Amino acid sequence: MFSYYLCLLCALLGLAQGTIFERPCRSDVTVLQDFQVDKYLGLWYDLEHYEASFEQNTDCVTAEYSRYEDGSIRVFNSAVRLTDGLLYAVDGKAVLSYPDVDMLEAKLNVSFYGAPNDESNYWVLDTDYENYALVWSCEPIGGERSLEYYWLLSRTPTMPEDEELRDKIAELKQANGIVDDELIITEHFAEGCKNKRHKRLQKMP
Ligand SMILES: *[C@@H]1O[C@H](CO)[C@@H](O)[C@H](O)[C@H]1NC(C)=O
Repeated sequence: MFSYYLCLLCALLGLAQGTIFERPCRSDVTVLQDFQVDKYLGLWYDLEHYEASFEQNTDCVTAEYSRYEDGSIRVFNSAVRLTDGLLYAVDGKAVLSYPDVDMLEAKLNVSFYGAPNDESNYWVLDTDYENYALVWSCEPIGGERSLEYYWLLSRTPTMPEDEELRDKIAELKQANGIVDDELIITEHFAEGCKNKRHKRLQKMP
């Protein structure tokens, strides 16, 4: 059970199994250009993501991005496991995948537990920095198959009641092959989420 939860965090990190698709990784996804890292920092709520078995029974999933002293990005993921109501969290590190180009692409290498940042495994397909971010990545796993990750992040625990914004997100998902029937929705108002900020953090082993 515990390692299951661990892998929820791994998933947010892109280290564990995402969702397997019977298709090769798409090469035509739109990745945000001219990425402004500092505007992207701060707290994001996970609203939906591709299903993975180890993510069952967790809610209140958030990701918080800040800067380490060396300029790399601190990734602080936390979630409440509904089976015991405890708050679990993990710290990671992200760096821009290709920092030495004129027009920065929103591709990051994220790793946890001090692993090397040697995989471009966190791509921001689009964000307005203030409301939403679509994050995706894909790993070929042989044959015509792929392991995909996707999260819809929001600055608020629910998406604003803004039809234009919702249409835009729906269009982005469609254009990038994000499939609704593989999604699970994260609840931020579940009983277990209450006072999340006051819960004592459980350290990952
Ligand atoms: C990020 O990972 C890619 C491999 O996917 C590698 O080519 C690149 O050098 C890495 N970037 C950094 C800054 O380590």
